[in-house]
Order: sequence, then structure tokens, then C-alpha cells
Amino acid sequence: MSLTPTTLTPTKADRFSFGLWTIGWQARDQFGDASRAPLDPIEAVHQLNELGAYGITFHDDDLVPFGASTTDRDKQLARFRQALDETGLIVPMVTTNLFTHPVFKDGGFTSNDRSIRRYAIRKVLRNIELAAELGARTFVLWGGREGSEYDTAKDVRAALDRYREAMNLLTQFVTDRGYDLRFALEPKPNEPRGDILLPTVGSALAFISSLDQPELVGVNPEVGHEQMAGLNFVHSVAQALWHGKLFHIDLNGQRSIKFDQDLVFGHGDLLNAFGLVDLLEFGGAPTSEDPSDSGAGSPAYTGPRHFDYKPSRTEDYDGVWDSVRANMRSYLILKERAAAFRSDPEVRQALAHAKVNELSRPTLDEGEGYPELLADASSFEEFDAGAAGERGYGFVRLNQLALEHLTGAR
Ligand code: GCO
Ligand code: MN
Ligand code: MN
Repeated sequence: MSLTPTTLTPTKADRFSFGLWTIGWQARDQFGDASRAPLDPIEAVHQLNELGAYGITFHDDDLVPFGASTTDRDKQLARFRQALDETGLIVPMVTTNLFTHPVFKDGGFTSNDRSIRRYAIRKVLRNIELAAELGARTFVLWGGREGSEYDTAKDVRAALDRYREAMNLLTQFVTDRGYDLRFALEPKPNEPRGDILLPTVGSALAFISSLDQPELVGVNPEVGHEQMAGLNFVHSVAQALWHGKLFHIDLNGQRSIKFDQDLVFGHGDLLNAFGLVDLLEFGGAPTSEDPSDSGAGSPAYTGPRHFDYKPSRTEDYDGVWDSVRANMRSYLILKERAAAFRSDPEVRQALAHAKVNELSRPTLDEGEGYPELLADASSFEEFDAGAAGERGYGFVRLNQLALEHLTGAR
């Protein structure tokens, strides 16, 4: 396989989507003013469409400013709808801003102030109606302000009760309304709060299992959020897939444990990004029984490939559009490189030597239980643990092969 321009040109079939708040970020940060002028959502729709994306996503307040009158809201929504109709761009996901306005400084669903919790739920309900009208299938909830700085300030168990109360209400609402919409919780360990509730994919998965309608709730993991906590994003995504809970994904780049960088996809931990694309694109059921075949499976995830990044503050709008192209191109390059890796006979040999596929084989034989295992002398009494402990797996060689495919050296 070679890197041909065709495979690296994004099309709607690639299902790339971008948040309006990403390209529309004016680059105001903790230390500096905005470095870019506001972006009209209509222009965002047209640009994304021209660059090959299939979808645009938004927070309620990205599209219609917080507190806008009903007339202004209707006007803005009509303009937006017209742009969608003109371009064929879709809205696969919608989310609510429960973090910018000072009213949410101690959270939305889990604010200590009950009236604010009620207000937050109303804001989300209004936005769910809009999401359903626009045909979105996923509703993301990122609880950036649900948390605390001080252990004395938040009763975490009560906060989780209130989080659950809100989620149960929301799932009841979409069920009663008959909306074809599922929720995806987005974990993040910290920032803007000192500590955020449901900090990792694992915490979110455990929380979901306590809900009234868990089948309507999954996760929206973000590359940088797991990596900020020093976790392996590929592992987190694999476990979400294993639970059938990968409802959406936020792709970006992060370089180690520090503030949330929201870099372009691939501009952070590149090997981990390679592993991620390999998992998403080829980690599903094998496409063929033929062992001489590429060994690549089907996609393990078929939802939007959503980029949630921030075009660096150094960039003007040319740089913003370059960064949009860069996200999609990085993804397509990694997809092509992962396919090349999968089809390399040397890689297949290294995978076999590493016994990677042997892990798919159940540890017990069909019909075998602990009595049979206890009776099997070869599994213990006669087992040569010394010899088995000496045998190398060749994982380093396998990883070097991945690196060589990734860098185009093979
Ligand atoms: C972040 C988050 C946010 C959320 C978005 C959706 O960078 O901390 O990713 O960007 O994804 O607000 O609600
Ligand atoms: Mn982020
Ligand atoms: Mn995100």
C-alpha cells in the first residue's frame, strides 16, 4: 500500500466531524486575550463541508449566545439550518454548555445550590429538543464544572446521587418523547475544576451501571483527557468497546501529563494514536477466515470520528483551516499505515510469535471446569514454569515494526 492522494483526501464516508467550539475558539486563555475574531457558524459549516467533513457539532451557546431572546434564537437556528441544507453537512452530536456562565461555577447537575441544579437540567432539556429536531443521534455531557477544589466543599456521594438523578430524568425524557438519541458522558480528571467527578472512562462506566436506563448511556472518551491522567487511551477505548459503551469519541493530541492541550490529532503521543486508529478501524471481527489475508478486522467503531481540539493561539484563520485538514489527514495517514502494518507478513509472523492471537482462545476447553483443570497434570504438576518463564515474546520487535510502518520506513 502506498500513500496515494486519494486515500488521504477526506470524504463524507470517513465520518469526520468537528465541534463548532473548536474552529470557533478565539484563543482566549488564562493569560491572554482572544487572538482571533469570532467565526460565524454559517462560515464554519461551509468551510467544514468544503474540507471534507460530514458533520458539525455544537454546544447550545456556541450557536446561540447565552441569554439570547427567542426571536434571535429562532433567527440564528433558521440560518444554521439553511447552511446545513445547502451543504448536506449533518449534526451527529449536540452538547450543552454547563460551564462558562458564572452560575455554573460550582457545577450544573451537582451544584451545591439546588435551584442551579434545576436550572441546569432545564437548559439541557431545551437543548435535547433541539438535538432531536436536528437529527442528532448522540448527546454528549461533559461535566467540566462538576467537581471541587476542596474535599470539605463537596459531598461526593451526594453529588453522585444528584448526577444519577439528572441522568435518570434525561433518559426518561428521551424515552417518553420517543427520541432516537443516546447520551455519552465525557470523562476528564481535572480542569477547569481541581478534581472533576467521573474522572476517567472507568469511573464513568461504573457510574452508568447504576442508572435506571443504562442502555441509553455510554461514554465519549477524549484522547487528551485520559492521557492527562497518565492513562493509556487505547486501553480506555478498548474497555469502553468491550462494554459496548463507545457511543462517541473526541480525537485530539496531548503530550504527557499536564494541562489539557487539545492539540491536533497525532500531534501528541503518535504511537498511541496509531494504536487507536488500528483499534477503531481494524479491531472488529476479522473480515476473512483466510489466514493469508491481511489479518485486518472490520471497524470496531462506526460512529463519528469527532475532533475536539483547539487550533493553537498562534494561528490565524489560514492556520485554523490548516489544522482542520491536519486532523483528518493525520487520521487517514494512520489508517493507511495501520493497514500496511496489518498486511506485512513479517508483522503477522511477529504477532504469532508474540502469541497476540492466542489470548482470544478461552483458557479452559469447551465444557471444562475447575475439576477438569485440577485433574489436568500438564497444567500444573508437569508444567515447566522455568522454560515458559525463559521464553521471550518479541514485543519489542513487534513494536519496532509498528514504528517503521508508522514512519514510512517500511
Ligand atoms: C475539554 C472538553 C470539552 C468538551 C466539550 C463537550 O477540552 O475539556 O473536551 O471540549 O468535549 O465541551 O461538552
Ligand atoms: Mn480536551
Ligand atoms: Mn471533548
